Amino acid sequence: MITATSAEDFDLGIENNCREAVSFPYKVVKRFLNSLSFQERASNAYWRVNSARSIVLIGMMGAGKSSIGRCLQRRTRLARFDTDEMVSSKFGLSISEIFSTHGERRFREVEAKALVELAPKAFGAIIVTGGGIVLRQENVDLLKQLGTIVWLDANEEALFERASRRSNRPLLQTEDPRTTFSEMLRARAPHYAKVADIRVDTSALTRDEVADVILSKVKELVTTRK
Ligand code: S3P
Repeated sequence: MITATSAEDFDLGIENNCREAVSFPYKVVKRFLNSLSFQERASNAYWRVNSARSIVLIGMMGAGKSSIGRCLQRRTRLARFDTDEMVSSKFGLSISEIFSTHGERRFREVEAKALVELAPKAFGAIIVTGGGIVLRQENVDLLKQLGTIVWLDANEEALFERASRRSNRPLLQTEDPRTTFSEMLRARAPHYAKVADIRVDTSALTRDEVADVILSKVKELVTTRK
């Protein structure tokens, strides 16, 4: 597994990649590329060549999977699938409402089903998952087939602080959320570590820096696998 903690080694080879991407009809493509920011151009050129596999984001609540997923979607212009959003729309309820009305077990069943449903559509996409997706082996097996698995991690304090900013985490509605979180993290960390191709420590990085590191590391991985 590659572990990344800084954006220092970010190098997407923008010039080479963009030259590779510019072919017929030259003027149209050039106009399109010129309309994009530097980072968007780099991401686009990269994905033109390596679009077969998805980027799958896993990690604890508070790791920033949803916001980084949106950031990656903007940067790569790939489709984005979010299992929590899919489950929520299936029920027509928020995640908290699903837990309180139907229970965690039902949520996990529908979460696994959502993953199966998105698999044939997610060919070169950004896939955002809920923190507990790695608890079922069937999910893990499927995630591995979908693409490069990126574990968004951070130090425990940062994760808990971010996760408890909003009261939309049903699993933290306990008498002692801090202890609950700590126990959950201890139980889950080995699962994330086992399944991840890349780990990114997001503790001290901005959203864009995390996206930079992910794109750079995924490229590195794809290149070394060839
Ligand atoms: C869960 C995390 C949540 C959501 C549900 C269960 C978990 O998603 O899927 O509340 O078991 O860790 P986030 O990781 O996006 O908060």
